[in-house]
Amino acid sequence: MIKNDLFLKALKGEIVERPPVWMMRQAGRYLPEFMALRDKYDFFTRCQTPELAAEITVQPIRRYGMDAAILFSDILVVPQAMNIEVQMKPNFGPYLPNPVRDQKGVDAVMVPDVDVELGYVMKAIKVTKQLLNDEIPLIGFAGSPWTILCYVVQGQGSKSFDMAKGFCFTQPKAAHELLQKITDTTIAYLKAKVKAGVDVVQIFDSWGGMLSPVDYQEFSWKYINQIIEALKDEVPVIAFGKGCWFALHEMAKSNASALGIDWTITAQNARYLTGGNITLQGNFDPARLLSPPAEIKRMVTQMINEFGKDKYIVNLGHGILPNIPLENAKAFIDAVKEYKG
Ligand code: CP3
Repeated sequence: MIKNDLFLKALKGEIVERPPVWMMRQAGRYLPEFMALRDKYDFFTRCQTPELAAEITVQPIRRYGMDAAILFSDILVVPQAMNIEVQMKPNFGPYLPNPVRDQKGVDAVMVPDVDVELGYVMKAIKVTKQLLNDEIPLIGFAGSPWTILCYVVQGQGSKSFDMAKGFCFTQPKAAHELLQKITDTTIAYLKAKVKAGVDVVQIFDSWGGMLSPVDYQEFSWKYINQIIEALKDEVPVIAFGKGCWFALHEMAKSNASALGIDWTITAQNARYLTGGNITLQGNFDPARLLSPPAEIKRMVTQMINEFGKDKYIVNLGHGILPNIPLENAKAFIDAVKEYKG
């Protein structure tokens, strides 16, 4: 049904002529057409207006022709729907004025009716699917419960998320209740997204690497695995954990269709730790897109050779940076399309 099914084939582990490619945060500030809309509409207006979210989603596809689109939205729309105020401050990032720091705070967090509170996302998916016209698959996403907890407890971005960790370590019962509420909401949210038309879902555990291997199992992976189990029979699930190479062996035993990895691990080690069978996605250093285009192309070709063209999805190891020149992003995508195995 979908004309370019390279991405879906790679997720199933099927043989492909070349690996598929997309970029995390591909609908973003390195694109002038994105900046034009950003000047006119604030962040949540862009997320909540289906026509705007759909337009922003297809902007990078029109320019570069990636093999998958990812719906323009944010992981923080989930806590917003759970009765937690979330602001996006220009030049600062997310700001939550009333962070959750105790049992009383956890009790006030709601598990919402996602079709009511996040109905605008489902509308955006329907409009985007029309624009995409079955050319390529559409990815829906959510933050991992741990990564969402990081913002909900810390109240803003952080280099250490010390308050989030402190909350888990001093009030584990309240922390697990909060993680379970986020998990229940996320499962309902992703199922609604699938019903609305997304073909694949990705879970972003951007701050999983902040935890020790033992704490990671207790406070992050346990909940990600619940989400994978709830979704696995409906769509392929990709689990991306930044800095989580230490957990790859455990993650590879799950029913995820693919694991996303960052640039701090070699292809060889990632294949070794995951047993060589599961599809991997990544792992170009986003800052390496600052290298000259010819060098980017050479490095991408080498990266594909190292991972192998099958069971592999070319991506960055984290989101694209705002200061990446347009021709450098093009070199990244073109190198994959020109790949001859
Ligand atoms: O193209 C895409 O990938 C879809 C868009 C997308 C956004 N956020 C839009 C956005 C996606 C997939 C996200 C996920 C997200 N949001 C994550 C997980 C991925 C990652 O990068 O680790 C996280 C941790 C967030 C939380 C968040 N949202 C932060 C920390 C910030 C501020 C810093 C930043 O990167 O800008 C945001 C704001 C945000 N989300 C912007 C965009 C395009 C920039 C603000 C703006 O456009 O006004």
